[in-house]
Amino acid sequence: MHPIGRKKNLLIIGSGGREHALGWKLYQSDCIKEIFYSPGNGGTERNIPIDYSNFDKIMKFAAGNNCETIVGPESPLAEGIVDEFMKRGLRIFGPVKAAAKLESSKVFSKQFMKREGIRTAPFAVFSSYRDAEDYVKSQAEGLVIKADGLASGKGVIVCRTQQQAVQALRVMMLDKKFADAGNKVVVEKRLTGKEVSYIAICDGISFVPLATSRDHKRAHDNDKGANTGGMGSYSPVHAVDRKLEAQINNDIIEPTIRGMKHLGSPFTGFLYAGLMLDGQNGLPYVLEFNVRMGDPECQALMVRMKSDLYPYLEAAIDRKLDHMPPIKWNKESAVCVVMASKGYPGKHKRGQEIYGLNFYSSKNVSIFHAGTRKESTGRLLTAGGRVLSVTATGQDLDSARKKAYNTVRNLGWGHGEEHYRTDIGLSAV
Ligand code: AMP
Ligand code: GLY
Repeated sequence: MHPIGRKKNLLIIGSGGREHALGWKLYQSDCIKEIFYSPGNGGTERNIPIDYSNFDKIMKFAAGNNCETIVGPESPLAEGIVDEFMKRGLRIFGPVKAAAKLESSKVFSKQFMKREGIRTAPFAVFSSYRDAEDYVKSQAEGLVIKADGLASGKGVIVCRTQQQAVQALRVMMLDKKFADAGNKVVVEKRLTGKEVSYIAICDGISFVPLATSRDHKRAHDNDKGANTGGMGSYSPVHAVDRKLEAQINNDIIEPTIRGMKHLGSPFTGFLYAGLMLDGQNGLPYVLEFNVRMGDPECQALMVRMKSDLYPYLEAAIDRKLDHMPPIKWNKESAVCVVMASKGYPGKHKRGQEIYGLNFYSSKNVSIFHAGTRKESTGRLLTAGGRVLSVTATGQDLDSARKKAYNTVRNLGWGHGEEHYRTDIGLSAV
């Protein structure tokens, strides 16, 4: 550990529940002095009002305040923030632009998996609408249409019928709903089974896996409604036993790291494999790679992590992860319930006063902020779709659920303008 006086300052880029949870965890580290957030939210302190697409300004702040930087969301990674920091000799945790392609281009990611023999749904790539439509019509029903580029988690349409698949192609390729992100599409076979998020800290050569987690993407109970950024999460996922974990490490994480290194773009950062455990053969298939922590998986993981996170991030930057022991986890379960503004992921109100936060106090419940804003008077207002991540631990999933929902029921804003799912973690109880 670092002697006093050599403690580090951190700059966390992003404004979500994920960034608040990362900062909450890292602030418990003996190695950390100050944590700054850019831009942060109403729950984070020391917010730096710099637009993170302004790399020059951000780098100036990081250099001037002696910060190491951790990147939360995918877009600055896809735009090359890590490359810029590295050029200036500034320490930053995250993948370079060429490695971030694992998330920023679905075409790249699928072709990479195919080349490396990593299990994923069979697929085809199209840049012409006509060809894509002909292909869809030649296939059995049950297809997924994916825009190649980043689309804030909305560029994937899971289709039951052929008609839906053709409609999805139209939306992406003709109506240009996702602009240039839809210039190319991936058409792939729809898989069924159980979804798991598997995240590892990587240093370009080796990796240390985190515990298993799962998120709930749809807006409403019983997986009804639109896809969102994530309405809740839990950890661990008991369906993944030690044997399956070893298989995921050997068949998916290792070949991904090896393959990226061979391409000349070694992967450093959080590698997130969104997996489907096939309902028939039980094997893990990669649905998608993300090149960052999951949100809200991060919230459930951080409250369970017993080890100090900071030395792992530092070891990743220094390519020394192979010296690090496995991360220790609390045996308890964690459940994170996302409270969103009514209408999310569609139109929703902002600027409503949040009540109930003063009354909460519990060792086992953490409330991470996302779309919140603090006025100079101290009033806390809603400022986005996902507002709070109420995250609780308990001896099992059921007790973690109860604690989380007991807190959720005392929080709200406007006249009942909050919305949350009531079934986070329920199917696994
Ligand atoms: P992505 O944006 O690639 O993370 O995909 C979003 C969600 O779409 C995933 O978490 C799955 O729920 C679903 N999905 C993606 N690909 C498939 C597939 N081949 N089969 C079934 N569901 C899928
Ligand atoms: N929870 C899904 C994501 O972070 O993409």
